[in-house]
Amino acid sequence: MAKDKTIYTCNECGGISPKWLGKCPHCNAWNTLIESVAVAESAVKNRYSASFQALAKTSEITVLADIDATDVDRTPTGHEELDRVLGGGIVAGGVVLIGGDPGIGKSTLLLQALDSLQRAGQNTLYVTGEESGAQVALRSRRLGLERSQVKVMAEIQLEKILATLEAHQPDVAVIDSIQTVYSDQLTSAPGSVAQVRECAAHLTRAAKTSGTAIVLVGHVTKEGALAGPRVLEHMVDTVLYFEGDTHSQFRLVRAIKNRFGAVNEIGVFAMTEKGLKGVSNPSAIFLSQHSEPVPGSCVMVTLEGTRPMLVEIQALVDSGGPSPRRLSVGLDKDRLAMLLAVLHRHAGVACMDQDVFVNAVGGVRISEPAADLAVLLAITSSLRGKPLPKGFIAFGEVGLAGEVRPAPRGQERLKEAAKLGFSVAVVPKANAPKKAIEGMTIHAVDRVEQAMEIVRGSPEVQGGAGKPRLHTASAARSMVSSNS
Ligand code: TYD
Ligand code: MG
Repeated sequence: MAKDKTIYTCNECGGISPKWLGKCPHCNAWNTLIESVAVAESAVKNRYSASFQALAKTSEITVLADIDATDVDRTPTGHEELDRVLGGGIVAGGVVLIGGDPGIGKSTLLLQALDSLQRAGQNTLYVTGEESGAQVALRSRRLGLERSQVKVMAEIQLEKILATLEAHQPDVAVIDSIQTVYSDQLTSAPGSVAQVRECAAHLTRAAKTSGTAIVLVGHVTKEGALAGPRVLEHMVDTVLYFEGDTHSQFRLVRAIKNRFGAVNEIGVFAMTEKGLKGVSNPSAIFLSQHSEPVPGSCVMVTLEGTRPMLVEIQALVDSGGPSPRRLSVGLDKDRLAMLLAVLHRHAGVACMDQDVFVNAVGGVRISEPAADLAVLLAITSSLRGKPLPKGFIAFGEVGLAGEVRPAPRGQERLKEAAKLGFSVAVVPKANAPKKAIEGMTIHAVDRVEQAMEIVRGSPEVQGGAGKPRLHTASAARSMVSSNS
């Protein structure tokens, strides 16, 4: 039966083959045939027509202005940091994909969220394909979720999951994970692209028709793009990825796509003995705990999403061999090469024969170009073996002509830095505030050379010996008052 039901479709040209081949007979591309469900010729025309006809009857054309733009109803999960990345909470009928490395805390976070939702009166269902019911129960005890009323089902067959969703009509359902679910319709193994795509499509349809909010858990595989959750990104409403270091205590959840909220929003959690706890003021965790400034370290204010955060950029410049290495962790590698060229050409600082390593502390990934200036300052600081002054921050985009361009919402960044006790800032001219910020000396620059000049020469930028030891607000404030 399965034989005449499945066909192989080419990813590249859409050509169809009755059996799997290494090379597509239509476009000659290699490894592009993916199993899919065959639909009879007559049915192809009608596959969706029934539903389209139904739609055509009910919906008439309306002028945009006449449509009531009611905001979608969100149900907060009770975990502030999770709600932040979701754009306020779970949306009925919305599909969320949450991806991340194995063991980073996906199941933990979702179990905690489901329990809070259940306690708030929502009907919840946790479908586990990776663990048994007993294992989930064990985790819930560990999380301190006593007498949790979350419904659990250990099942991996799509048709049975769909039937259960239909029968129980939960408000929120978690499928942990989409890679373990398989459909009877396909012969390929669970976790293959064909299965993942087909199962996710069915579940998404079920969510839209029933109003159940569905959360799909997806593992990011080593190969990344293909069998991983990336193939699902276009189908779902919201895509969240765990990022950060599995070895550190902190976990970041970033919204990559969100039809109901802002993208690039970051939620910060700490993994504790009792599960994930939100960190409401995360700035401090991306700074390393030096008691005195060290060479090669520069703090920047990043604004990924809507919340400004302070992140320390570290650089190490060391003599390299004939082909020196450029490595970056948490920052764009190509951008690093570009910045080194700018540094050489416009500020006369050469690193041709040096290995250059840069790192964003805490496992955070920074995609915005506002990190450029901090990267350059960290590199020169490491090269000269001289630390930047205490309480120093910098941000701004650097262009190929050596110009320093403004970063969006500079005022907010400066205010956040001042709040945390930073007292000296080098920022793009357009970001300099009109009114002085209390306790902060601001240097506005529009060229890379000026920024270098300021940290090299100007006396008020130079941190001194015998200053307070910690980067705390009070310590830095006292430093400012002693200066003035
Ligand atoms: P888990 O949620 O199972 O990860 P995923 O579903 O993403 O694969 O994460 C489990 C990890 O978290 C595991 O290494 C143990 C740790 N952990 C804690 O530190 N504290 C806890 O309370 C729990 C439940 C797990
Ligand atoms: Mg898990």
